[in-house]
Amino acid sequence: MTMRLVDAELLESREILPGQFLQHYHAPALATAARAGQFVHVRTGDWSGLVLRRPFTINTVDRATGVLSIHFREVGRGTAWMSRLRAGEQLSMLGPLGQGFQLDPRSRHVLLVAGGLGVADVRMLADEALADGRQVVLLYGCRAASEVYPSSLLPDEVEYLVATEDGSVGHHGLVTDLVTDYEAWADQAFACGPLPMLAALARLAAGRKARLGVATLGRKRGGGRPAVIGSPAARRKAFLQVALEQHMGCAVGACLGCAVWGVAGPQRVCREGPVFAADEIDWEATVGGATGKR
Ligand code: FES
Repeated sequence: MTMRLVDAELLESREILPGQFLQHYHAPALATAARAGQFVHVRTGDWSGLVLRRPFTINTVDRATGVLSIHFREVGRGTAWMSRLRAGEQLSMLGPLGQGFQLDPRSRHVLLVAGGLGVADVRMLADEALADGRQVVLLYGCRAASEVYPSSLLPDEVEYLVATEDGSVGHHGLVTDLVTDYEAWADQAFACGPLPMLAALARLAAGRKARLGVATLGRKRGGGRPAVIGSPAARRKAFLQVALEQHMGCAVGACLGCAVWGVAGPQRVCREGPVFAADEIDWEATVGGATGKR
């Protein structure tokens, strides 16, 4: 995979939810190369003169027009600076970085599960899955109606269900409550959101086979040896893949600032991730030691 450093021109910036922005950039080299789940490292300025790079998941790409979008929340000075950029201004972007989601070619039914801003991480996968003729369901959870991701930003073909913690719209409760209705339907599931949500999904996925008596993908044609945990083949076949969000320093694997606990030792979110098969992660150690989640 080749990473590129480009100056991306801002085409459009919109506040789609209170404090959350969707920005479209002209960055043909990145739009062509990027896969769902990968990220860009963006050089942000701020009014104090401090300059840092910050990671943003690639929200969508349009390869025909060379446009790449990112969806972010204003959480500090760097993102505040970004949210005030005007069309025509340029940003330095490094990418695409990290390992993206992997759809198994045999999957027909794709379940996406997103908590809050985690929708930015799975959004592009909806486009990739639909382009291959798959069916896509998105389960989305947030605190209240005011935070619900606009359905107008999703392709029409996506079946979209919402859960809110205060019950102001959709299911009253957690997004994980909705998963049980779809776990028999889904061939694969892909998730991003707060760590406790991902850990709950990992527990559900681990018990799925026993509850439903379903074969895992790839077993039907004679099975064979299970792929080694963490290998590309095992990831591609995994029922549940998760995108993790960590504060990053270098974003290219050098500083170890983004490491989480994997069952086979520390894993760098920027390099081995941000997408992992759920069974690669030591959830107890990772949730217990979580720091700096966005
Ligand atoms: S951010 Fe430096 S190793 Fe991941």
